Amino acid sequence: MNRVIRPVKSLSGLLRAPPDKSIAHRAAIFAAIATGVSRIAGYPRGADTMSTIQCLSQLGVESYWDFDTLVVVGRGLSGLKKPDRPLNCGNSGTTMRLLCGLLSAQTFDSQLTGDDSLLRRPMERVAGPLRTMGASILLANGRGPIRIKGNGPLSSITHTLAVPSAQVKTAIILAALTASGPSTIVEPSPSRDHSERMLGLSTGVESGIRTITVLPRNHVASSEFRIPGDFSSAAFFIVGASIVRNADLTISSVGVNPTRTGLLEVLENAGANIQLLNTSEQGVMAEPIADIRIRSSDLSSLLVLPHMVPGLVDEVPILAVAATQADGESVFSGIGELRAKESDRIETTTQSLVRLGGILSADRDSMTIRGVTKLNGCPIESSGDHRVAMAMAIAGLVADGETTILGSESASVSYPGFWDDLDSVSAA
Ligand code: S3P
Repeated sequence: MNRVIRPVKSLSGLLRAPPDKSIAHRAAIFAAIATGVSRIAGYPRGADTMSTIQCLSQLGVESYWDFDTLVVVGRGLSGLKKPDRPLNCGNSGTTMRLLCGLLSAQTFDSQLTGDDSLLRRPMERVAGPLRTMGASILLANGRGPIRIKGNGPLSSITHTLAVPSAQVKTAIILAALTASGPSTIVEPSPSRDHSERMLGLSTGVESGIRTITVLPRNHVASSEFRIPGDFSSAAFFIVGASIVRNADLTISSVGVNPTRTGLLEVLENAGANIQLLNTSEQGVMAEPIADIRIRSSDLSSLLVLPHMVPGLVDEVPILAVAATQADGESVFSGIGELRAKESDRIETTTQSLVRLGGILSADRDSMTIRGVTKLNGCPIESSGDHRVAMAMAIAGLVADGETTILGSESASVSYPGFWDDLDSVSAA
């Protein structure tokens, strides 16, 4: 599908961001291995989170909808059943990596597969530490499909993450829940901490290095989850309202966990006009939420340093769009991980913005962007990457003429209502 975006005079009104994909995957998986019935209010119906439900159902986990609440009947830590065919994770790296951790500690064999993009993504980072715990995992050249031989509960591990990855961390946590003793995970560059909060794990920070301790347990308690709004989805509109003239937009009930909100720091340092209102904590997960009000601003250049990347790893494409409208030279460094996402996001973002008239250059792990540039609408490929599709749609709001997003349906991987939300706050 194609979507035509035209310049807008303002972005205004009130939006509710879709529920947080990262938290929802975890809620579903933790509910699946819990003892008893869990309720997940606001479970998102995007393709990625539906892939997780589908895989869990093949593992014998019953779930059903009660309006917008997903009710999951937990099977306990040792109650999953052997799937009768490979588990298809679709486009979702979180599904594949988290389930890899969970399944390597089961007593049955299983296979994880996915779409072409997912089968190009690196999986050794997750297989490596799990093998150290005793798992038998076979990859295809470091990638999926993943074949797992179920050897039952694994040994404990003390592991320092080589790549700052919340997916790898959570895979190890899942395997460690039934391990032979306490495990320790060390994060030199702390990544999102939703799993730790949801499982109530003990953590410590010393000189910026985070240590997480996972004690083996007999059961995971069932829970009543309410999923906050997805900061990574809100990010498109935060940038949109910062760069469009006459904007005044509020996005309600957005998750503002400090391990996710690096984009706010970068934009605020560049002079953005953003306020967090009605800050509170959401339910059992103790996830901070807030309403975010954004008004137009004249941005100065943006600076992303390597230590900031885990806190904004999914927001680099949309920050690059902001940088084309920021005065001066913006530099994003230490962003090499973006090459291992749904597309090579350094390449897809740079190429798309250059096509639109942006002045950008990139090397292996950095990007330099010169602004302010007047963008000119043209056809842009989403490259099957939801975040590229949505970032370039926001670029289209400040471009002259028409910007056509080719393959716009990929937005529904994380934000099925994106195009309707964009229409609802745009004034032509
Ligand atoms: C996620 C972690 C990040 C992020 C992804 C979701 C998660 O990936 O890019 O969209 O839910 O744990 P990495 O763990 O590969 O950094």
